[in-house]
Order: sequence, then C-alpha cells, then structure tokens
Amino acid sequence: MDTENQQPYISDASQPNAGRIYDYLLGGSLNFEIDRIAGEQLKKLVPFAPKLAQLGRWFLGNGVRMSLERGFTQFIDFASGLPSKDHIHSNTPPGTKIMYSDIDPITVQYAKKIIGENPDVKYEFCDISKPETLLESDIVKKMFGDNHKVAAGYNGICYFLTDEQIRYSMNIIFKWADKGSILFFTDLDYDAQNINPTLQSVIDSYRKIKQPFFFRSKEKMKELIKPWKISDPGFLNLEEWHKMPSFYTEATAQLIGSGSGFYGGFLEK
Ligand SMILES: C[S@@+](CC[C@H](N)C(=O)[O-])C[C@H]1O[C@@H](n2cnc3c(N)ncnc32)[C@H](O)[C@@H]1O
Repeated sequence: MDTENQQPYISDASQPNAGRIYDYLLGGSLNFEIDRIAGEQLKKLVPFAPKLAQLGRWFLGNGVRMSLERGFTQFIDFASGLPSKDHIHSNTPPGTKIMYSDIDPITVQYAKKIIGENPDVKYEFCDISKPETLLESDIVKKMFGDNHKVAAGYNGICYFLTDEQIRYSMNIIFKWADKGSILFFTDLDYDAQNINPTLQSVIDSYRKIKQPFFFRSKEKMKELIKPWKISDPGFLNLEEWHKMPSFYTEATAQLIGSGSGFYGGFLEK
C-alpha cells in the first residue's frame, strides 16, 4: 500500500478541494471556479463520476432512513463534506442530534454557515484518523452526554485513508459507542495491484491537492472494520442498495478493474 504520499491535508481556497469538487459533482453551488475546473477534468476522465457521487449520497440517505426506522435519534458523521444536498439534517425530524465533522477548515467554516444557529446540529473540525479528538471534545459531551447510542456515518472517505487509519478509527469509534450503535460506510472495492492508467491520472491529480488515494478489496475491508459486526444484507454495491440496474458498461468496468466498484455496508456494535 502506498504510504509515501500520505501528507497532512491542507486547505487552500486557491486550490481545488475534494469536498467542494464532490459538491460540484452533486450539482451543489458551494464550490469555487477552481473546483468546477477540477470537476470537469475529472468528468472527462471518469464520465460517471457525478453518478457515483449521487449514488453515494443516496446511500447516505438510506443510512439515515434506516437509522431513523430503528429508532436512532443521534448521529455522528465523519468526513461529512458540505451539508448541502440531501445530507443528514435535511432528512431527520426536528430534535434529532447531529454532530458533523470534516478535516478541511474551509468546509467546516462553510458548513457552520449552512447550518446556522441550531442547538441540535453542530459541525466541527475532526481528522477521522484521530476520532478521539472529536469524541472526547466538550461539544460532543454537551450534545450526547452519557448516551453514546449513535448512528455513525463514515462515507466517501475510506479511499482517502490508509489501512492503519481505518483500523484505528473504527476501533476508537467502536469503543466510544454504546452497544446497539451502528455505523454506515461506503468504499471502493478495487484491485490496488492493477490500477488502470486513467484512474492513475485521477489519483495523480488528487495527490497534487494533497489528497492521496488508497485502494483495497472488500475482503480487506472486512478485516479493517473489526470489532464492528457486519449487518444484513452485507456489503452491497451502491446500485444494489438502490435496486437499480448496474451502470457498469465495458468502459466503466475497465476503469473499475477487477474489483466490484463502489459498495456500502452497515455495521453494528
Ligand atoms: C467525498 S467527500 C464525502 C462527503 C460525505 N461524507 C458524503 O458521503 O457525501 C470526502 C470528504 O472527506 C474529507 N476528508 C478527507 N480526509 C479526511 C480526514 N482525514 N478526516 C476527515 N475528513 C477528511 C474531505 O475534506 C471531504 O469533505
């Protein structure tokens, strides 16, 4: 696994930013010209990138709905990106407690503005590779008190983390959460040994903005999420979650490689 390019994430409004590019792909308006240019370049290389971003956001919406159906009233979300379109607080009843977080200070600043004054919804800085900094913060203590039964969100982020970072953060969140808590996440099942040249150029362009990629298989992920238990129906491709026909054509399959592509799963304590 490539670790040599793992660098501290530095936010800079004059550089494209992963969260804002994602917002652009989702059709949001919280992005700069520089992000739109980067988004268009990405679309040239990966024409189905907006579709993947949308499927990812829908999965997040599914996670929220399923959590509400199971009676959850508290959410803690990591690597939240911009809470613009279809994010947690737009899909939950009033009074639901939601703690969003992200590593990017500009995203955090924007997000606070979007949310405005709301005692039940907060947005704070957190590097997911050190989740204890958020979990042990005064703001989280004030929001959740001693009740740590939460639905945790961990979406669209695993491929930006090393195996060690995933293993560590999954373990810390598990220890902090009460029994009965759940965690929903998405990742890309990809054969890291055989990266397609087009995908390699996407990786290179993200590396330039200090956002390296790390790919792994679903099987590897099953090890990294321990001690969380995988809930039924297991790790399904995002189209399967949405009961849609697969949109993988021969061209997309070439890009996605021998892995099965983007998938999501629910984990339980
Ligand atoms: C693709 S967006 C995902 C947004 C959201 N979770 C969703 O699924 O719609 C990835 C986000 O991860 C954030 N990010 C990258 N590295 C991070 C880290 N180490 N800790 C926390 N957030 C991180 C980026 O700033 C960006 O906002």
